[in-house]
Amino acid sequence: IFSQVKQAPADPILGLTDAFKADTRAHKVNLGVGIYKDEAGQTPVLSSVKKAEAKLLEIEKSKNYLGIEGVQAYNQVVQTLLFGENSDIVKQQRAVTAQAPGGTGSLRVAAEFLMSNTNSKTIWVSNPTWANHQNIFETAGLTVKQYQYYVAETHDMDFDAMITDLNQAEEGDIVLLHGCCHNPTGIDLNIEQWKTVAQLCLDKSLLPLFDFAYQGFGAGIEEDAQGLRAVADIVPELIVANSFSKNFGLYNERIGAVTLVAEDAQSALTSFSQVKKTIRSSYSNPPAHGGLIVSTILADAELRAEWEGELTEMRQRIAQMRTLFVETLKSEGVEQDFSFISRQNGMFSFSGLTKEQVNRLRDEFAIYIVGSGRISVAGLTKDNVPVVCKAIAQVL
Ligand code: LMR
Repeated sequence: IFSQVKQAPADPILGLTDAFKADTRAHKVNLGVGIYKDEAGQTPVLSSVKKAEAKLLEIEKSKNYLGIEGVQAYNQVVQTLLFGENSDIVKQQRAVTAQAPGGTGSLRVAAEFLMSNTNSKTIWVSNPTWANHQNIFETAGLTVKQYQYYVAETHDMDFDAMITDLNQAEEGDIVLLHGCCHNPTGIDLNIEQWKTVAQLCLDKSLLPLFDFAYQGFGAGIEEDAQGLRAVADIVPELIVANSFSKNFGLYNERIGAVTLVAEDAQSALTSFSQVKKTIRSSYSNPPAHGGLIVSTILADAELRAEWEGELTEMRQRIAQMRTLFVETLKSEGVEQDFSFISRQNGMFSFSGLTKEQVNRLRDEFAIYIVGSGRISVAGLTKDNVPVVCKAIAQVL
């Protein structure tokens, strides 16, 4: 039976981490996967997380199963982070949330739920998008189509082209939107553009599905949710798949959530029964630890303030690295204009480097970036920026 199985291609992002680990060159640099590194090149556990874990260790009395939807206090704080304090959507109980394993798990639950329970079987994703989107949605059985988003020549987005493409979508189609810090381009919609997309979804009865994995990495926790909230004000129904891998540094705890907003409380509850059925058939109920960490931090004013400070520090360090990166490329004699990198949001910079240049960076300089030319700026440090820029200057 197994002899018929064909080799799968390496994952474009996590496969790169495997190749990086196997590389024996001491000076290697991994700017592939989106993981935050501090100035020392480490990814330490946040201090607010450590304190919450110490608290949990003390008070935990049982490892009993959670409900299918996970930690209830967690699901409430997720809704507040997404929609804000005093949100009408939350007050009217139009939102239902299930804790899920990371952004990927949340997206997969959403896709499986839609596939089994609705007529929404086609999803539109941006071109380009996160390398795992197509994999997740096709595995769940959805048809994946693309809308234009980014123009390589201008290093900018083409909003008109995005709208033209989305006008081809049919009633019930799903539109995948990156809540903030678009992965991989780092280019986000402005508030007027968000409203235009929302109106188009309303007019054509399209369902927005938000992938919201970088809240706090753009301009701030509240600021980064403005696009989602503007859309939620206009459309009657949407889904959000969010993740706390990055903003709480909880990568390996696999902690995220799927939140469904329906037209009314009854429709939300009915849909939620099917979301829970989807989860039960997949992983039954989520592991507790990540949800408990997040809800413990957000319920405690001191821990919350500490977390917000740590998140701000991460965001500011990445912004500094963007500036340093652009300046150092210039001082290495690169004539091409890379100033667009300073205007991009979040962990990534879409560099415009070609596949061939990416391969040379890996083979000749032991610098790993994603094949699309995406560089994890969050992995740059004052120490490795000169090395990386020198190498880029050479391959250019
Ligand atoms: C990334 O885009 O690098 C991250 O979201 C990690 C992942 O799972 O791909």
